Amino acid sequence: MPGNKYFSTQKKWWKEAVVYQIYPRSFKDSNDDGIGDLRGIISRLDYLQNLGINVIWLNPVFSSPNDDMGYDVSDYRNIMKEMGTINDFEELLEGLHQRGIKLIADLVLNHTSDEHEWFVQSKSSRTNPYRNFYHWWPAEKGTPPKRFSVFHEEGAWIYNETTDSYFLHYFSRKQPDLNWENPLVRKEMYDMMKFWLDKGVDGFRLDAFTFISKDLSFPPIPEKYQNDYFSYYASGPGLHDYIKEMTAEVFSRYDIMTVGEASGITHEQALLFTGTDRKEIQSLYHFDHANWGRNKNNLYYPDATNRKLTDLKKIFTKWNTAFENDGWGAVYLTTHDQGRMISRFGNDTSYRNESSKLLFTFLLSMRGTPYIYQGDEIGMCNIRFEKIGDYRDLHTINYYNHLAATGGDLKSFIDAQKETARDNSRTPFQWNPDTNAGFTGGNPWIKVNPDYNRINAETAETDPDSILHFARKIIALRKSLPVLVYGDYKLIEEDSETLFVFTRQFENEKVLVILNFSDHRNTFTIPAGFILMKELINNYPVKTVPVNNQIILQPWQAIVFKYNIQ
Ligand code: GLC
Ligand code: CA
Repeated sequence: MPGNKYFSTQKKWWKEAVVYQIYPRSFKDSNDDGIGDLRGIISRLDYLQNLGINVIWLNPVFSSPNDDMGYDVSDYRNIMKEMGTINDFEELLEGLHQRGIKLIADLVLNHTSDEHEWFVQSKSSRTNPYRNFYHWWPAEKGTPPKRFSVFHEEGAWIYNETTDSYFLHYFSRKQPDLNWENPLVRKEMYDMMKFWLDKGVDGFRLDAFTFISKDLSFPPIPEKYQNDYFSYYASGPGLHDYIKEMTAEVFSRYDIMTVGEASGITHEQALLFTGTDRKEIQSLYHFDHANWGRNKNNLYYPDATNRKLTDLKKIFTKWNTAFENDGWGAVYLTTHDQGRMISRFGNDTSYRNESSKLLFTFLLSMRGTPYIYQGDEIGMCNIRFEKIGDYRDLHTINYYNHLAATGGDLKSFIDAQKETARDNSRTPFQWNPDTNAGFTGGNPWIKVNPDYNRINAETAETDPDSILHFARKIIALRKSLPVLVYGDYKLIEEDSETLFVFTRQFENEKVLVILNFSDHRNTFTIPAGFILMKELINNYPVKTVPVNNQIILQPWQAIVFKYNIQ
């Protein structure tokens, strides 16, 4: 293993962090316009503190026409009007800091909104000083090389009449790609980052950062790779140079946390970005388990036959190996880009309570910084919309329209979206059993999941057996045990399709994590030489007593033991 082999046990606050992701549009609405906002988050600071998390990753709140829900920024130094003002942002930051919680902002690097002043200038004439802030293809060079857009529109190049040229957009047509080859673009972006860091922001999540450098010769793409965005669209020749420069100019000058959205990065490449000698970023999160159980030819369709626990274990084990000595990983089970954790990896009907707790046990005992997505701590489920009209995400809507126009199978698409649509995790947070789950007194921008009568924070608060209380307990456990942060990880029970069992070890502390990923009872045989000591946490109320070196596990039971070796 290359890299600095001592780094894995070196103390860093961002390794010890427990991150909570807030999708602000759906967290809490303070002024009844149906859209969650900064003052809404401010009103829930105590809730966040009581959860025990100590870092917030806040999805984009910068000015945006919201074609892609804030990932199309029209002014990086201002707050989106629906979200509030700069003053609200400062108040939020202060309120978090007072409670010992840090905030990492979402940095959209690859593209701006087409309504950003730079683009407005850029498209106005070929000689405008901002022309080279974006990628342009003059029409006299002929039709631009074929490229697709991630959001399934007509293609990644759009013709602009005023300047008789095409501009590039790998995401939506309202998200033109910035030209990072241009040093002026880089300087503007670094200045903007400093602007937020100087306000006290504690770090960044780097959105789609592998796309910032592309091969500008735009070589032809073999037919079967037409949709392989990552290999052909991202990770261009300048990528490492730009990240190194960003780190030298900005990140290295502050005590901050950086995590990259590593689309298309393999575990073999992970240390090229995160290795300490590379001076790039600290950590990244991968998509391998997000693609688990998906149709290999089209990731937007689930495929139950591809959903093997052994594969899931291989993915996490492989990524752990990548960061065994050096670099650092992120552990998450969902984000705003995927369906709900419980609907995807657990059982959200008969074992919602148990399987949510099991997934929390996994998140908080696995090696790497854990990321909890808002609402998972109360066991929120996929909404599974039946009608296209209920969806708000351009990803789903554009794909649907494309299928409708080309005679595709709309019914199977809608069925697939019930598992894969991003909107499944974007429905409003369920605070209480009142109208609209207490999220808003107005008309919510996206429907509230009708299960909110049963599933909401207020009800969870009054039930001592709730997922919420368990989540608080396991978060506290993680924070109290250095072995859960710095301990090594070893998988046992490699071949089991129902048991995910591993050990963590740091100095003299040894922990055994036993997870029964199934609707059935199961037997776990304690490995020879292991002496189980204290039961640290258990998602069932009865203490587990091994009989003849075996433990009978209940459906979705999760237990963490301290152990010794004979
Ligand atoms: C990232 C974001 C996603 C967004 C895309 C384009 O993948 O997480 O929500 O649509 O980048 O910025
Ligand atoms: Ca609002």
